[in-house]
Amino acid sequence: MNDYGEGTEQDVRIRVFESFKDVFSSAPIRLMSRTVSTMRSMGYDDLASAIGDLDWRTVPADDQEDPFLRDDWEALLVPAFNNMSGWLHQLASRPLAYNLDSLGYPAVVEAWSGMWQVQLGLEFKNKSAAPPEVFIFHGGNQALQAAFIGVAEARRDRAGTDTPATVLVPIPSFSCPMDQMALQGMQAYLLPPTDPGMDPGPEDIAKIPEGVDIDAVYAMPVNNPTGRTLEPDRLRALIEAVLDRWPHAGIILDSVYVRMHPRYNRLLAWFDDDARFADSIIFIDSLSKSHGVTGLRSGALLTRSSRLRGGIVRYAQNVMAGPSNAMQAVVLGLIGPHASGEEEFSDYLIRLQVRIGKHLQRRRQLLLEEAFDRWREYFHKDQPLLPDPKTFDWEGSMYAVPQLSDLCRTKAAERGFSPTVGFYLDSGIGGVPLDGFCGNPNLERHGLLVNHDSEELRAFQKYASRFVRLSFGMTPPPKRRRVADRD
Ligand SMILES: Cc1ncc(COP(=O)(O)O)c(C=O)c1O
Repeated sequence: MNDYGEGTEQDVRIRVFESFKDVFSSAPIRLMSRTVSTMRSMGYDDLASAIGDLDWRTVPADDQEDPFLRDDWEALLVPAFNNMSGWLHQLASRPLAYNLDSLGYPAVVEAWSGMWQVQLGLEFKNKSAAPPEVFIFHGGNQALQAAFIGVAEARRDRAGTDTPATVLVPIPSFSCPMDQMALQGMQAYLLPPTDPGMDPGPEDIAKIPEGVDIDAVYAMPVNNPTGRTLEPDRLRALIEAVLDRWPHAGIILDSVYVRMHPRYNRLLAWFDDDARFADSIIFIDSLSKSHGVTGLRSGALLTRSSRLRGGIVRYAQNVMAGPSNAMQAVVLGLIGPHASGEEEFSDYLIRLQVRIGKHLQRRRQLLLEEAFDRWREYFHKDQPLLPDPKTFDWEGSMYAVPQLSDLCRTKAAERGFSPTVGFYLDSGIGGVPLDGFCGNPNLERHGLLVNHDSEELRAFQKYASRFVRLSFGMTPPPKRRRVADRD
């Protein structure tokens, strides 16, 4: 193990941070997570980790709110992963079948389709002799890549090859899709919010100048980074405003947090109300969050859109005939009962996802209470993104985005650090600056940002640097400290 020398906790933390700085200079989430986990491995109680994904082993065995969650979650994961060896044995007698990578694909598709039907009340099916509506990929990010390919191809079908497709991104937004757009040479229009809570809405669409042609929107019913729920009426109004203006647009709804949300069956319930939705919406899903299996890489794309489907079908057919056998075997272990009519088991699995979501909320609540308790003067008195900054009790995912105080920002600036880094070095609470979710250097570098000269965008990005995105997926909930133990 590296020797980070002697000194105060803060001295050590600065040295650890410096040791990772060059390697992860273009990956702030990784830089912060590595620093935090190294500090924790040395026995310091750094609070949050910048990576949001969670792991069942971080659920305490004696969790006060849900004492059986760790066991129940483990009891789902272990047999699902063991399912892999069952498959291998089954295939051993037919070694060639091993290399036919679509072996369990129809069953996996049915399981995902069943899960959406049972839990969310939305029907997507792959019927014989009809174009597919459900596609399974290696993770939500790959499903997103497929969605962008679909949008790019639909643009070429509609308008030729002179100009690339333009994707509208209400910010703050999950950063990977912005980089995927840059990698694919797509243009982006980054749309700052009007709402103080930074939820996108139809009023933002009206601000886009005449003449901008939008091919798709990337939005999230539960937002990363803010963790906030986009209320269904507001989401629907946003989509309607886009389709009223650009009827050809695709709407990519990244819904990876929906199934663990307490109101999972309400957030997308408007989908069947208007025929335009079926023809424009692409849903993205993943098991990374709801099942804590990021390493498995399992995600899905669900759409009924005929005009967006062409590029997706071809991508799925060309790049892979289906995801790996290993992933298929585990996924069937995790979500198979949604397809096989085992109603009770299926209900139990839905409850388990929601319990995981609830646990994350509580974990976030305890960690934020502790952070505000210990570092009060580092937090601004106005917290527009935390609907209830006293109890921190709100729905959503594992994220929280507090605003840092003037004191925190001044102290950081005096030492030449960004507010987020200064805050971490003093407090041990690691996060990612919100402005990292409000732009992408590669879009700019290649001249792909349509509104690059927008003063409003620059001003919002600057404002966003006062906020830090904390995520608590990997940080176990703190044990309640006795008053006497507190500093
Ligand atoms: C909104 C959103 N979509 C997709 C993903 C990626 O999903 P996966 O791990 O399945 O690629 C994430 C991961 O952070 C996310 O926050």
